[in-house]
Amino acid sequence: MAYLRWRRFVELASLDRPWVGELFMRKRNKPIVAAPVEKWDREYQEGLYDRLARSEQRHHHRLLAAMIADRWPNPRVLEIGAGEGVLFEAFRAHAPARYVGVDFSAPAVEKGLERLAAERATGQVELLLGDGRTFRTDETFDVVVFSECIEHLGEVEDLVAHYAPNLKSGGGVGLTMWLALKPLRLWHRLKRLGQVLDEAAINTPWGGGWLVSVVRPATKAVLAMAACVALAPSDAFASPALDLPLSIDLARAAVDACAARGAAVSASVVDDKGNPLVVLRAPASPKPPIAAPRKAAAAAQFDAPGSEMEPREKADPAFAALIKAEPERLNPHAGSLPLHIDGKLVGGLAVADTAHDTADACAREALAKFAAKVR
Ligand SMILES: C[S@@+](CC[C@H](N)C(=O)[O-])C[C@H]1O[C@@H](n2cnc3c(N)ncnc32)[C@H](O)[C@@H]1O
Repeated sequence: MAYLRWRRFVELASLDRPWVGELFMRKRNKPIVAAPVEKWDREYQEGLYDRLARSEQRHHHRLLAAMIADRWPNPRVLEIGAGEGVLFEAFRAHAPARYVGVDFSAPAVEKGLERLAAERATGQVELLLGDGRTFRTDETFDVVVFSECIEHLGEVEDLVAHYAPNLKSGGGVGLTMWLALKPLRLWHRLKRLGQVLDEAAINTPWGGGWLVSVVRPATKAVLAMAACVALAPSDAFASPALDLPLSIDLARAAVDACAARGAAVSASVVDDKGNPLVVLRAPASPKPPIAAPRKAAAAAQFDAPGSEMEPREKADPAFAALIKAEPERLNPHAGSLPLHIDGKLVGGLAVADTAHDTADACAREALAKFAAKVR
C-alpha cells in the first residue's frame, strides 16, 4: 500500500513536472507497443471488459462526460477506440445530440450494437468497425474522445491532426487515461497541441487512478506543423522506421523479380500506418496500381503476409469484417509481406496484378535481397 501511495504521489507530481516522471520511470527507453486486434478480440470474447461497465470503474467516464457537456451542451461526440460504447452511458444524462463510436475489435462492436440498439434505431448513436489510426468520416463533432486507448493509436500529434477536420470550430479533444508514468508522456504531448480546458485526476479507494482532460487543439495549420516535428528524443514511440531509399529499392527489386518471371506488375511499400511510401508500376502492367498499396497496407496493419491473410479472410468472419469495413484501403490477398527492423513492425511490401503465388514469390525474393536491413 505504501508503495502504491508513493507511486500515486509521483504520478500526480509529474502532471505539471514531467521531469519528475522521467526521473522515476522504469524502463523509460522501452517503447509502448500497441496491442494487436487479436488480443482485444480475445478479451472481449472472454468478457474481460464487462467490468468496465461497472459503476466503480466509470468515474472517469462520468467526469469526462460532465466536463464536455458543461462546455458543449447536447454535445456531438466521436469516440475512437470506443469498445462496446460504454462511455455513451455516461453521456446519456447530458442528452448528446450524436455519439459515434469506432473500434477495430469486431466482438466489441457487436456487443455495443446490441447494448445501444434502441439509440441506434433513433439515429442518435452509431457504432462502427474501423481502425482508429486511419478511420475517416465527413461528419463533424464538438469533441473527439480517446478514452483509455490513446497509447494504442500511434503518435499523438498525427492522431490529433488526423481528426482535426472532424472538429467543429472551437471543438475539443477529450481524454481519459490510466495514471501511469509512461502513458503520461502522451498527455504532456497532447497538452502542447492546444489549450487545456480541463485537467483532473481521479483517485479511487481501491487504488485506481485516471487522468481526465479536455484540450482545445490549436488551428489546423499549427497541428499540421506539430505532426511534422513530432518526435522528441524522449519519445515514447521512438522506433526504427523505413527510409525512402530502402523503400524504393524494395519496390524496385519486387518489380524486377516479377519481370524475370515474365510478369509485369505493380509493387508498393507502405509505412507502419499503411500510408504509401512508394508505388511502382511496370509500364506493361495490365492495371492501374491500386491493389499493391492496399495489399501492403493490410500486411502492415495485421502484421501478416497475404499468403496467411487470404485463407483467413475465408475462415474468420471477424477478420473478414475488418477487411470489408475498409475495402478502399485494405486487400488481404497473397503477394504482401509485413516489414520489420530490429523486430519492430515498420511497414509492408506488396506486389499486385499478377497471379497471387507469383506476387508472393516476387515479394519474398525482393525482401530476401535486403535481409541485412529489413526482414
Ligand atoms: C481499454 S479499451 C477502452 C474502451 C472504451 N474507450 C472505454 O473507455 O470504455 C481500449 C479500446 O481501444 C480499442 N483499440 C485499440 N487500438 C485500436 C485501433 N487501432 N483502432 C480502433 N480501436 C482500437 C480496443 O479494441 C479497445 O476496445
